[in-house]
Amino acid sequence: MSSMLVGVCYPDIQNLYEDMTSELKELVKAIDDHIDFEMTQNLSSPDKLSYIGKGKVVELVEFVNNHTITTIYFNEELSSQQYLYLKEQLNCTILDRTAIILHIFEQRAHTKEAILQVRMAKIKYELPRLIGSHDHLIGQQGGSGFRGSGETKLESDRRLLYSELHRIEKELKAIVGKRKIQRDKRNKSDLPIVCLVGYTNSGKSTLMNALVKEKKVFEKDMLFATLQTSTRLVETDDHLPFLLTDTVGFINYLPHQLVQAFRSTLEEIKEADLLLHVVDASNPKYDQQIQTTLEVLEEIGVKDIPMLYLYNKVDLGGYAFIKAQNPNLFISAKKNTGINQLKKYICKTLFAHTIRCDLFIPYEKGEDFKKISRCGELINVIYGEFGISLSIEILPSYTKMVEPYILYH
Ligand code: GTP
Repeated sequence: MSSMLVGVCYPDIQNLYEDMTSELKELVKAIDDHIDFEMTQNLSSPDKLSYIGKGKVVELVEFVNNHTITTIYFNEELSSQQYLYLKEQLNCTILDRTAIILHIFEQRAHTKEAILQVRMAKIKYELPRLIGSHDHLIGQQGGSGFRGSGETKLESDRRLLYSELHRIEKELKAIVGKRKIQRDKRNKSDLPIVCLVGYTNSGKSTLMNALVKEKKVFEKDMLFATLQTSTRLVETDDHLPFLLTDTVGFINYLPHQLVQAFRSTLEEIKEADLLLHVVDASNPKYDQQIQTTLEVLEEIGVKDIPMLYLYNKVDLGGYAFIKAQNPNLFISAKKNTGINQLKKYICKTLFAHTIRCDLFIPYEKGEDFKKISRCGELINVIYGEFGISLSIEILPSYTKMVEPYILYH
């Protein structure tokens, strides 16, 4: 049993071809397979019907039979027409780039939202292929006008998928609405938000775990180990709380269906007070990965949020010639190198501009006093007959929390 990678190299993607191929191999690794053989066809553009050209298909069929190939991975997304044509010619499993990514996302999605979004993307991917497959069936059974079992099944399959799509869209809307309420609630608590962004496998989850003491986040050496955002409450060394959010990894050539589907999970980035852009400094393509991440951020409308570039994995060496973007820190999330410096940076950025408030908190609101005193530097605390008078240096974003107790002189 062997697997094979097949691609077409044409002028539009010539410069990217090598990167696309190595990324596809990583994707294949992520679904526990590997590539034994590779075949590249040079064309001025992919063939509309056969993708690699009819002559090359004949060659491929022979190769597949001679080498007992069980799966062929195609470097790009095939159109439904190409998929069906190749499926008919080749006696093996065919997976294109989108199908592989969908498969990975399907395996990794755990939250209800992620599961629904992947399912929605999959239906959108399958629908045209389903139509094609049945059209083809109709053709075999007597051409247009024939209303055989194929056509009836096609109609009912389509109807079922469309109604599932409709149901998922409704459910997703409800989930997104609920998340917005949760976010608003969080905003009311007005804790500053720090968001980890960066290319897949750059080390975001590992860094999150290095910064958070409990409740570890899933981290693994595979693409898209994280498929949903997770947020943890973190405290600086001075016990100032903030929220730290890990996001889904970014990737080049992400299938269109998935870019849309995952946009909503990235929405939270827009509310961050600070972005930590994690870069795998040991990857020779680090610069390109930065650009991809920046492009996605721009696409989802992220702007004017301070960003710190974190060149990660310095323990692996090979970072000496990096032309770093500013501001930056070189770290190793795995070996805890530079983490203290990072904490200081976060602290400085989030808590630099404080304001002074004079408060009076009645004793019966003792819980609020505890909460408030953790959010800033207490200057003056006087325990009076009915409550506590105090001055506190806090971030402007905490003012909502202290507002009921402010003394206006
Ligand atoms: P996605 O979920 O795909 O977005 O990945 P991620 O960015 O969250 O990466 P993750 O933290 O899962 O790390 C990917 C791999 O890189 C894991 O095998 C980590 O152990 C490894 N890694 C992360 N940080 C470092 C580091 O500083 N040094 C070394 N040597 N490996 C690291």
